[in-house]
Amino acid sequence: NNSALGYSVGVTLDRFIKSKQDDFPFASGELSQILRDIALASKIVNREINRAGLSNISGAFGNTNVQGEEQQKLDVVANIRFCRALTKGGEVCAIVSEEDDEVIDLQNSSGKYVVAMDPLDGSSNIDVNISIGTIFSIYRRVTPVGSPIQPEDIMQPGSKQVAAGYVLYGSSTMLVYTTGRGVNGFTYEQSLGEFFLSHPDMTAPEDGNIYSINEGLKSQVNEGVNNYIEACKERNYSARYIGSLVADFHRNLLKGGIYIYPSTEKAPHGKLRLLYEANSLAFIAEQAGAAATDGKNRILDIIPTSLHQRTPLYIGSRVMVEESHEFLKEAE
Ligand code: AHG
Ligand code: MN
Ligand code: MN
Ligand code: MN
Repeated sequence: NNSALGYSVGVTLDRFIKSKQDDFPFASGELSQILRDIALASKIVNREINRAGLSNISGAFGNTNVQGEEQQKLDVVANIRFCRALTKGGEVCAIVSEEDDEVIDLQNSSGKYVVAMDPLDGSSNIDVNISIGTIFSIYRRVTPVGSPIQPEDIMQPGSKQVAAGYVLYGSSTMLVYTTGRGVNGFTYEQSLGEFFLSHPDMTAPEDGNIYSINEGLKSQVNEGVNNYIEACKERNYSARYIGSLVADFHRNLLKGGIYIYPSTEKAPHGKLRLLYEANSLAFIAEQAGAAATDGKNRILDIIPTSLHQRTPLYIGSRVMVEESHEFLKEAE
């Protein structure tokens, strides 16, 4: 029986959200609505990903985004699907997306929430059939509802998130999210079109023996990072690096491990973006008892100064993150 899980595994995402309604004291179901909107869009994107090879939506779109990256068709398709679902849901007033240069103002005079998202993470893996993801953060706007969107509504530190989550389009499709009271994982049952609770109350192992870093960066990163990676090798840790942050993060969260995207010569602030990659996963990490820093400071404390700003990211088991800091300090 499922009593050991505390919940019958047959709990759908909708039922779970309703059952946790008391988690949203201020909101009369608006936040729940946004989570439902995101879940709906993820089901549509999941289907498009599964058919990418058969329809003509694999490959490059023919644009370069504000990141200077060549947009993949699925980057654009996913962006449209999530923006459309959030617009229809009616609870969101502004969206920050990796794929849009500027803030998307939904002109929604009753929207109380702002969503920052990476509609498709791991784009380089789309055409080679390796796991990819979606990452999102949800904030309450801080200026009066109905007034024009202001920078302070958008440039909030990660500590102000009211919810965050990711979708992992992997061997199974999962939705993992937190509203600040723990982390719960749902697995998509395609034949029913529903997400079912499969990973209640996810907690990360304190320590681990998996390290995720692009070792091709070795000559570009500071010696503290390289010294830490050497120490991992001396301890016979496992190297696991997929090139999709969501997939590497999810595995490390479940099994214990650390993901590092450090500052490099070419990218002194690292590659990953603060608003819709680092902050979202940092909130989840901390809610699961793990840690997320830029090599020194807590990701969630960083006050954003620009929409697509990047940050170095050290995220995963708390003991591993702390230890990596020691090596960085020694090399300073
Ligand atoms: P995105 O596809 O959304 O631009 O993000 C890709 C990120 C992250 O998912 C991954 O871990 C990292 O880029 C891989 O970067 P490298 O190819 O430089 O290792
Ligand atoms: Mn990208
Ligand atoms: Mn990404
Ligand atoms: Mn992306």
